[in-house]
Amino acid sequence: MKLKILVTAGDGIGPEVTGEAVAVLKEVAALKGHTLEFDYKRIGGIAITTDGTPLPQETLDAALASDAVLLGAVGGNEFNSLPPNKRPEAGLLAIRAALGGFANLRPAFAFKELTVNSPLKPEVIDGADILFVRELLGGLYFGAPRAWDKEKDEAYNTMRYTRDEVARVARIAFKLAQGRRKKLCSVDKANVLETSQLWRAVVNEVAAEFPDVAVEHQYVDAMAMHLMNRPRDFDVVLTENLFGDILSDESGVITGSLGMLPSATIGGKVNLYEPIHGSAPDIAGKGIANPCGAILTGALILRHSGGLEAEASAIETAVRKMLEQGYRTPDLVRGKDHGYTVLSTTEVGAKVREMVKELLA
Ligand code: IPM
Ligand code: MN
Repeated sequence: MKLKILVTAGDGIGPEVTGEAVAVLKEVAALKGHTLEFDYKRIGGIAITTDGTPLPQETLDAALASDAVLLGAVGGNEFNSLPPNKRPEAGLLAIRAALGGFANLRPAFAFKELTVNSPLKPEVIDGADILFVRELLGGLYFGAPRAWDKEKDEAYNTMRYTRDEVARVARIAFKLAQGRRKKLCSVDKANVLETSQLWRAVVNEVAAEFPDVAVEHQYVDAMAMHLMNRPRDFDVVLTENLFGDILSDESGVITGSLGMLPSATIGGKVNLYEPIHGSAPDIAGKGIANPCGAILTGALILRHSGGLEAEASAIETAVRKMLEQGYRTPDLVRGKDHGYTVLSTTEVGAKVREMVKELLA
């Protein structure tokens, strides 16, 4: 099997964590005789500084010519005063739009070994396993018109969805639910928003194509609460762009650290893979960032772009084994006498590779 992967490491801890993800992928490729070709391009703040734009044409061309794009993270404090369309985040939104992936898969699950990392009680989170399917190319992020009109002292954004935009992401979510626990919860604000009324109607229509999947609808405000009170009740959670952005971060609480969680964006020309965490400028360059989110994102590349289920699960098992053996990056430990072995970013990567070797040899 051969895959061309473009790495856009981006800003902050992006280069550190994607470095470990790439090293793990290379290990897997060597062990199983796959060919993974890696190319590297700039995106985000580093591209603004070097090329004057958050998404240089060269990066976009390389992304479109690859089989998968692995993105680290974008953003930095020095760009905070720029308008939205000039910021590092604009580069990320532009590459998402250009690659066309509209279904952003964001798992939120509890690792048995990280139960103490969550502020939620063990009996609430034990076994929780949610897959968010976040619509990624519509809603407020891309709707026009949008502006901050300084003269009128007003600003506006537009939430817009078409039937097709809702139907295509809903179909992916239902298919994924069929391969899981066959439950789908669609989240909207249909008591207030027309976009949500359309959303709910279309989800119900698509549901008729998947009679084996149980569907429920929740309002986003209530859902924010249910996710913390009874996360185990949810399987696939389908929602629009901004609601999905907010709820997926909230659900990082179930895992105890956003640093552990991967994501994959599918359905377009080229799949885009990103860990859920941000660029974490406060710890960038210190070698202490948790590379697990990026490493698990690498596993998703093998699963969704390579069709390599065994290799993908080997990486996931390796990460769990590494935790089982008591290894942790500093973000996962509190206080002094925790009894864990605290490792750097590269040391955690090396441990995961060791375990992958044992599993795949
Ligand atoms: C995410 C991030 C992005 C988003 C930002 C960086 C544009 O928060 O991937 O969740 O809002 O989609
Ligand atoms: Mn977010």
